[in-house]
Amino acid sequence: MDHFQYREGAYYAEDVPLSTIAKDVGTPCYVYSRATLERHWKAFDQAFGDWPHTIYYAVKSNSNLGVLGLFAHLDSGFDIVSSGELKRVIQAGGRPDKVVFSGVGKTVAEIRYAIEQEIRCFNVESLQELDRINSVASETDAIVSIAIRVNPDVDAQTHPYISTGLKENKFGIPIADAVQAYRHAENLPHLHVSGVTCHIGSQLTSLEPFEDCFYRVLSFIDELKTEGIELDHLDVGGGLGVTYKDESPPHPTEYTTKLIECLKSHGCELPVMIEPGRVITANAGVFLTEVQYIKDGDERNFAVVDGAMNDLLRPALYQAWQEILPVNLLSASAERVYDIVGPVCESADFLGKQRTLKVEAGDVLAVRSAGAYGHVMSSNYNSRPRPPEVLVDGDRYYIVRERESFEQMIRGEFIPDFS
Ligand code: LLP
Repeated sequence: MDHFQYREGAYYAEDVPLSTIAKDVGTPCYVYSRATLERHWKAFDQAFGDWPHTIYYAVKSNSNLGVLGLFAHLDSGFDIVSSGELKRVIQAGGRPDKVVFSGVGKTVAEIRYAIEQEIRCFNVESLQELDRINSVASETDAIVSIAIRVNPDVDAQTHPYISTGLKENKFGIPIADAVQAYRHAENLPHLHVSGVTCHIGSQLTSLEPFEDCFYRVLSFIDELKTEGIELDHLDVGGGLGVTYKDESPPHPTEYTTKLIECLKSHGCELPVMIEPGRVITANAGVFLTEVQYIKDGDERNFAVVDGAMNDLLRPALYQAWQEILPVNLLSASAERVYDIVGPVCESADFLGKQRTLKVEAGDVLAVRSAGAYGHVMSSNYNSRPRPPEVLVDGDRYYIVRERESFEQMIRGEFIPDFS
């Protein structure tokens, strides 16, 4: 459930009409709801009941400092994939000792910084990375906690670009080779073998692939035990899907019930770490954009808006469907079918296709489910400054990122002397 709803024809974020934000802050712009972010975070936290667990919010899904600050306030953990994300977490008041560092390509500088900050755990994806972390840790004689990301070869049944648990994907160490990797880690003096981790993909809408993955990883933990390798946690990654259109993904409680059932059936009592991103942030945000022109074609009608693929990439990159609603329902214009397109010079630049709407130039539209993988994936393509972000809290709102200025956009660029 989210806190975006119509009241007498006007679309609201909590108690603030979105038309007010569009007018005051301008469009395009992202709007997040504090109550929704908190509700989703707490729903996951409570879903574990008394099973020992920690939520490591996946920073990549929405890394705005205001949003991270809210999760820090809830004493969340954080799953990061770069030193930039770690710096954001620290800047927002998050605790480094509640950070796990995922990703296949950690550089020496990133590892060194994360060791200095004393993060909770490195989620390691290759033998070479184990060696690299051990060697960087030896510089300061540190002992660093690691978990190995195993690739269980499970089909997550999601978009191929966001499927990560198959042999053909670059992620993790094949589960069949992983015992060997743990033996290797145990022999490295600056590593402390702490856990095991997995993440098979994103936007999963059924429990089966998760269950399959849990069983494979739990059997693997048994195998490690017979080798005398004891762990202190199991990190199950992220991936739980959300409703964009007509998907009905499992509720967090269904997910955790299944997980705990699998743990109990294996006699496993390990504390669980989980790295949810989308399920917390996606439906806690909308993207506001204003219709500039209505353009009638022979085969299609176009509503040309001021938001584009550089601001919200998911429709162009994954052919993702996100609901598009008018901020004012009471438009007098006729209902027609439109492609909602941006000003960028590519036919991939659309926010939605074949949508039935009553709109005219000047109307504001809200693209829903834009809180995850929205602003974080924006760019300056076509020299478009990146949009602002707004956090609504009850009947107040805060600009948590200003609209980028032209000067900010070209900062750091130089013209050589061509004479
Ligand atoms: N943990 C790891 C190791 C991950 O790679 C990811 C996401 C997550 C956690 C969080 O997954 P979530 O709970 O959000 O599904 N840009 C794509 C999604 C890419 C997800 C990448 N990894 C999209 O817009 O659909």
